[in-house]
Amino acid sequence: MANPDPEFVAFLKSYPAYPTTHLIDDLRANEYARLDIGGHIYLDYTGGGLYAESQLRRHNKLLAEHVFGNPHSSNPTSQAATILVEHARDYVLKFFNADPDEYLAIFTSNASGALKLVGESYPFSKGRYLLTFDNHNSVNGIREFAHLRGAEVTYIPIALPDMRVDASQLNRELGQPSKRGHNLFAYPAQSNFSSVQHPLDWIEKAHKHGWDVLLDAAAFVPTSKLDLNVVKPDFVPISFYKMFGYPTGLGALIARKEALAKLHRPWFAGGTITVASVQGDKYYMANGASAFEDGTIDYLNIPAVEIGLKHVESIGYDVIHERVRALTGWLLDNLISMKHSNGMPLVYVYGPTTTDQRGGAVTVNFYDPDKKALDHRLIEHQANEANISLRTGCFCNPGAGEVALEISRVELDVCFTQPGHEDRLTVDDFRSCIDGKSTGAVRISVGMVTNFNDVQGFLAFARGLLS
Ligand SMILES: Cc1ncc(COP(=O)(O)O)c(C=O)c1O
Repeated sequence: MANPDPEFVAFLKSYPAYPTTHLIDDLRANEYARLDIGGHIYLDYTGGGLYAESQLRRHNKLLAEHVFGNPHSSNPTSQAATILVEHARDYVLKFFNADPDEYLAIFTSNASGALKLVGESYPFSKGRYLLTFDNHNSVNGIREFAHLRGAEVTYIPIALPDMRVDASQLNRELGQPSKRGHNLFAYPAQSNFSSVQHPLDWIEKAHKHGWDVLLDAAAFVPTSKLDLNVVKPDFVPISFYKMFGYPTGLGALIARKEALAKLHRPWFAGGTITVASVQGDKYYMANGASAFEDGTIDYLNIPAVEIGLKHVESIGYDVIHERVRALTGWLLDNLISMKHSNGMPLVYVYGPTTTDQRGGAVTVNFYDPDKKALDHRLIEHQANEANISLRTGCFCNPGAGEVALEISRVELDVCFTQPGHEDRLTVDDFRSCIDGKSTGAVRISVGMVTNFNDVQGFLAFARGLLS
């Protein structure tokens, strides 16, 4: 056996399909050597994915061998850029198995940019905005557009220990869309806090009651296949750097054309119109994706999106998913079994403790033998010293954070209404006003090129925190 380490043998016994992912070990050696050369234990894949060296080479070659001009023109260099951009756009739809007659891919700067496009353009007036507690702030932020236009905003709670949604409450709300306006339901396919994968069959259920569905797939698509021929959400925001690391600064809104037709953009810009007149005070929106892409698109980097998607395809979601499942399972099994000498557990896991319907992020707090939480900032500091990249805080998901850390509405109201807190509140102010409670957690996230040694490295670090 290549690795006679008894721990590896025990791992294989629990996760016998892991060797089917060996392709990733070869890739790691050839394409991601910088990780091991630098002695990095990278465990922040939910924050950002990592690129293969070949992605850079291919992109660099393309730029070095061609001349590309601004695509808002018809000269030869402009046309060359347009061809590549449109090819990449088609490839995004093909990658997600989305029918081009039904869906459109709009390039944005990231998932947040895609979410803002929906928020600022959705016809909320007299309608409802329904969303789960478990959401990234860029989905929460849409509520401000909803409030402005007089929509009713309703949050569906999640509950410890699994941090999943109470289905009966969700069903009740879905059954009560506004009859006077449009209704938008937003949830993450995978939580960036607990890694819960919320059911995709909610989409069809919501559609039956007349809701439009915004499925935030930013944390889901890096390691799970989203097939838009099987599920049909109306709006799907994603960030490409989370999937394959390079380039940053590009995302997409994949949208159903029918739902997109309901959106009304609050302004026009270069590239979004066919005709605009100064004296006539009139403008005509362009058709399709152009109407949502303000100004000059990132035409030199967009071809790198196609290169990245092809890289993911060359490995395959089955392999990536199995790799992440096995390593996440091993991480969870071991963390949960770590006990101080007095028998007290070292960690509390926020979210599912099995690999069923969850992704590769494990969010925890560490405790001392007297059940006192160790400050997440201290854990981060110590992890930094060990060259381990993980993430701490609430990861821009305050709803999940408040539930996990058991911070109540009353405590928040008291804090937010204290004199001096009307307009400004720093993180330190917030910490001191919810005195004695943790204001964050530690997220360890496994991804496409994580290996057994990375997880073992982290587990050794965690064991060092035992009394
Ligand atoms: C679930 C989820 N949605 C949205 C976002 C926002 O992505 P971006 O910061 O790339 O806009 C993130 C980023 O962490 C995320 O995890």
